[in-house]
Amino acid sequence: MKNVAVIGAGTMGNGIAHTFAQKDYKVQLIDISQASLDKGVATITKNLDRMVAKERITEEDKQRTLNNITTYTNMEEGVEYAGLVVEAATENVDLKLKIFQDLDRFCPDDTILASNTSSISITKIAAATSRPEMVIGMHFMNPVPIMKLVEIIKGYSTSQETYNMVEEISKKLGKVPVEVNDYPGFVANRILMPMINEAIETLYNGVAGVQEIDTVMKLGMAHPMGPLQLADFIGLDVCLSILNVMYDGFKNPKYAPCPLLVNMVMAGKLGVKSGEGFYDYSESRKAETVAKMFA
Ligand SMILES: NC(=O)c1ccc[n+]([C@@H]2O[C@H](COP(=O)([O-])OP(=O)(O)OC[C@H]3O[C@@H](n4cnc5c(N)ncnc54)[C@H](O)[C@@H]3O)[C@@H](O)[C@H]2O)c1
Repeated sequence: MKNVAVIGAGTMGNGIAHTFAQKDYKVQLIDISQASLDKGVATITKNLDRMVAKERITEEDKQRTLNNITTYTNMEEGVEYAGLVVEAATENVDLKLKIFQDLDRFCPDDTILASNTSSISITKIAAATSRPEMVIGMHFMNPVPIMKLVEIIKGYSTSQETYNMVEEISKKLGKVPVEVNDYPGFVANRILMPMINEAIETLYNGVAGVQEIDTVMKLGMAHPMGPLQLADFIGLDVCLSILNVMYDGFKNPKYAPCPLLVNMVMAGKLGVKSGEGFYDYSESRKAETVAKMFA
């Protein structure tokens, strides 16, 4: 399998495309927005430049990686030869169901369809296709080129053969795959999101400020990044959507999103990608923000 289509060129999609391309897969990067594709390729280029500067890869590796990526705004054209599709579009259930119906129509019969969803049921996504045994969760972590884990989620109908293929591909990417069953939040977010939500609740209740909460968790618990900073990196809209899926899925109030998180998402304060979340990422404040984060 040499051709991998990646749907969505946002935070995760460009990282997934980068990772496959660096391991010599031919990547078809597909997004409905040309601006997202341009931004995604610019991000990949910048990240590769950083790797060259650190002498982790050579200039030739960088060029080879970029040459392995082709961009498309038309899904049907992009997936024509794909052996594997990794969907990393916006976290919205109706959108994903529609994308998987389209993928099922446009992809060859033997194409494995994987979703990078953080929380939406793989079983539900699979049921939108005529090949549920070939649908699987391939949950990469952010930033994808650096983070080792891939949570591989088996839906109710996912075949062992599909699992084995995706496990092998994950290993070829230099990642460590972990097998997980399909329940809301899987493992990573079921544990991480309540912690992030509690950090936001702590801020909302006025117990401590942003930097203070993050410092407690960094220096007290040896976390490499505070939970509020991590939420900014993940995207506050993504955090809210994952909490809502767990709240609905388990019918348990412990997953209810903090009203402050809901308000920030409604106000468009989504974290790094929108330029502001718990920290300010605007150009004029970037240096100050970075200094605070590493304080
Ligand atoms: N952000 C994280 O840290 C993180 C971590 C693990 C998994 N995820 C999951 O990865 C997925 C993507 O998240 P993200 O943070 O990269 O989102 P994002 O908002 O950064 O990017 C989403 C991209 O999808 C594109 N898109 C929307 N509809 C599309 C369609 N019909 N076809 C093609 N492209 C389309 C958008 O234009 C955008 O570029 C979500 O399912 C999310 O839950 C996110």
